[in-house]
Amino acid sequence: MVIHAKQATKAFGTSPVFDNLSFRIKKGEFVSIIGPSGCGKTSLLRMIGGLLPPTSGKIDVGHHTCGFVFQQPVLLPWRTIQDNIRLPKELGKDIQAVEDMLSLVQLDHVKDRLPHQLSGGMQQRVNLARALITKPSILLMDEPFSSLDEITRENMQDELIRIWQASKNTVAFVTHSIPEAVYLSDRVFVLTAEGMTEIGVPLARPRTRKMKQSKSFHHTVNRLQRALGGHHA
Ligand SMILES: Nc1ncnc2c1ncn2[C@@H]1O[C@H](COP(=O)(O)OP(=O)(O)O)[C@@H](O)[C@H]1O
Ligand SMILES: [Mg+2]
Repeated sequence: MVIHAKQATKAFGTSPVFDNLSFRIKKGEFVSIIGPSGCGKTSLLRMIGGLLPPTSGKIDVGHHTCGFVFQQPVLLPWRTIQDNIRLPKELGKDIQAVEDMLSLVQLDHVKDRLPHQLSGGMQQRVNLARALITKPSILLMDEPFSSLDEITRENMQDELIRIWQASKNTVAFVTHSIPEAVYLSDRVFVLTAEGMTEIGVPLARPRTRKMKQSKSFHHTVNRLQRALGGHHA
């Protein structure tokens, strides 16, 4: 068990966000979280990562370390790609680690460029490399592909699956896209004001794009739409 939430409750002042969430995420699992805006997805990721304390209950990650990937890459514009990736490792001067990350996200050929010289998808890959360079065992991703166009987004989904399988970490991934959640995940958590439910994804690994045409894919998308009820993801 890598992540274990025990009756985790969060409120800001007197406004409750969620109540009594209990769940477990296993080592190496890929779990997505969907739900309407304001239901507490970002707060939940921050709580898993230890950036936000629960109001009551707890989320236990043992000794595991967390890396964050946010929607906007926030790269330093004056530093080259390799120097942006090196950033979290600054004190370590670990050049090999930077090289390894550049090759993992397939950006070796642009390592001396500046962020503005890269496409949105490439910038998001730099962001991912920067989160992975500290070798976190848990990767927390908050709508990382939302600002990308559809074609880049689909490519990034395949990239992420490849990188996740190579780095063997546990992923909690927030998205507004139900098909994206189904394509990427082992399980999907649906968070609404009424609480959390989960739906397993009955698709084999490795995932292939053809699966998006399959009956089980559409069936799972429909189940998630129903679980969201009148709420929009
Ligand atoms: N630091 C904070 N202080 C007060 N209220 C907050 C804070 N962070 C989030 N909230 C509120 O908590 C609720 C859940 O926010 P958030 O976790 O960002 O939801 P989501 O990511 O699902 O859109 C929202 O109503 C938001 O306004
Ligand atoms: Mg959010």
